[in-house]
Amino acid sequence: MDKNNIFDEKEHGAVIADDFCEIERQPDPCTIIIFGASGDLTHRKLIPALYNLFCNKRLPDHYCIVGASRTEMDDSAFRSKMHQRLTDAGADLKAWDEFEACLYYQVVSYDNPSSYKLLSSRLADLDLKHQTGGNRVINLAIPPSLYATVSLELGRVGLAAEDMQKGQWARLVVEKPFGYDLRSARKLNAVIHEGFQEHQVFRIDHYMAKQTVQNIQVLRFANAIFEPLWNRNYIDYVRINASEDLGIEDRAGYYEQSGILRDMFQNHMMELLALVAAEPPSLFEADMVRDKKAELFRNLRPFSLEDTSLVLGQYEGGVVGGKRVPGYREEAGVDPHSLTPTYALMRVFIDNWRWQGVPFYITSGKRLKRKVTRIDIQFKAIPHSMFRQVLGGSIGTNRLIIGVYPQETIFINFQSMKPGPRFCLRTAGLHFSFNKGQEGTKLEAYEKALLDALIGDQTLFWRQDGLELCWSFLDPVLDSCEVCDNRFKNLHPYPAGSLGPQTALDILPLGSWPEKPL
Ligand code: BG6
Repeated sequence: MDKNNIFDEKEHGAVIADDFCEIERQPDPCTIIIFGASGDLTHRKLIPALYNLFCNKRLPDHYCIVGASRTEMDDSAFRSKMHQRLTDAGADLKAWDEFEACLYYQVVSYDNPSSYKLLSSRLADLDLKHQTGGNRVINLAIPPSLYATVSLELGRVGLAAEDMQKGQWARLVVEKPFGYDLRSARKLNAVIHEGFQEHQVFRIDHYMAKQTVQNIQVLRFANAIFEPLWNRNYIDYVRINASEDLGIEDRAGYYEQSGILRDMFQNHMMELLALVAAEPPSLFEADMVRDKKAELFRNLRPFSLEDTSLVLGQYEGGVVGGKRVPGYREEAGVDPHSLTPTYALMRVFIDNWRWQGVPFYITSGKRLKRKVTRIDIQFKAIPHSMFRQVLGGSIGTNRLIIGVYPQETIFINFQSMKPGPRFCLRTAGLHFSFNKGQEGTKLEAYEKALLDALIGDQTLFWRQDGLELCWSFLDPVLDSCEVCDNRFKNLHPYPAGSLGPQTALDILPLGSWPEKPL
């Protein structure tokens, strides 16, 4: 293809020129230790991600994986359990034999120091056997209530230690939720920092590791045509939506404590907001990127019931995808009088020069009509229409849509003439499909997150200050919905399979519903 002739391409939205890639970084030899190895997350996400990285030759040349948890098992039982789970999930296991040769298991009683000593000496043996150089990535796939105990014990037994002279490192990967509120998040940080320094802590948010989410910064800052319009002068509102058709599945114990605000807003939704609204860093580098996000969180207008609209909802029984499903209070393990919200709308403002007065409507909920993760940037109407004699006052507005799920896409609409004898305008659109025409390895979110932890790149992980700033913003919201007198009255029911509570729909701008597939 002639790269200078952009009209060579037959298809709209195709990739026109070759890629510019970062220099490929190869992870150092290391041991990957998974706490919570007998749990759900390990066989659903972590082992499949590591197996895929192995198949795609992304793991280090020398490595081993050690599962650790309370369940009594030996290496071979762990291997066959993981094999069975991946088989059930329909994975292609042709490289499994080679993979499992580096897979081990160690029983650990989380609050027993002698368990950690045994773990430590097993790791020392495996370091020699697999020549991992003593480097470690330790993944906490355990209930959050155990994060503090485990990280303290790891520190005490020396597994958090690094040796700069030998180039030997240790990293701790922590799953969400990180804390229950600002106080508990600070406390947890303090405990983790007794053994690990901030550069060793990788707080995962799998939304950040989605490639279409990372692409937001590329769209904004690698193009000249969007950023000049990316402000209050041209943007009417922004809608950030992550609706799900699934309910809480078998996670009642966790969800009853967390609800939608802690489960989705404190992390994923805030992250999406930061990517859309933060200022450009001068370099795409972990701390510079995270500085800008922290600055954005600092600029969020503090919550008050008067100027921020907050709608909370809870699903009732209904029909999703043609199937009858129970209401939240009828789910197994949920209190039949539960006031836990499963839906929230927040209208957020950012108090800075760029965004003054622009509402950001952030919505997320369980058991809605369909699963859609999408960001809509709604531009203002043109200031004056020279076509008003012909068309009257109304002329369509521009909207840029960043689709994360189900379509991974960028879509922009604009006005165009219609061919034909009469002068007519129509709304047309350009559509770019993120994956179309791209062969080669695609990284799932967990693969990307684990790979970055192996490489030691913290760009896509939460830094302590950003996390605390989000909790500071959300704490008053949580207070006002959890301890207010009329908590019951403020929880709006919505039927499963709907678009959410009517009160929320009344606040959202007309036409902002991402219910139609792009
Ligand atoms: C998780 C939440 O972090 O994200 C879940 O705990 C939610 O409740 C999930 O379903 C959504 O992730 P995704 O990638 O499916 O949009």
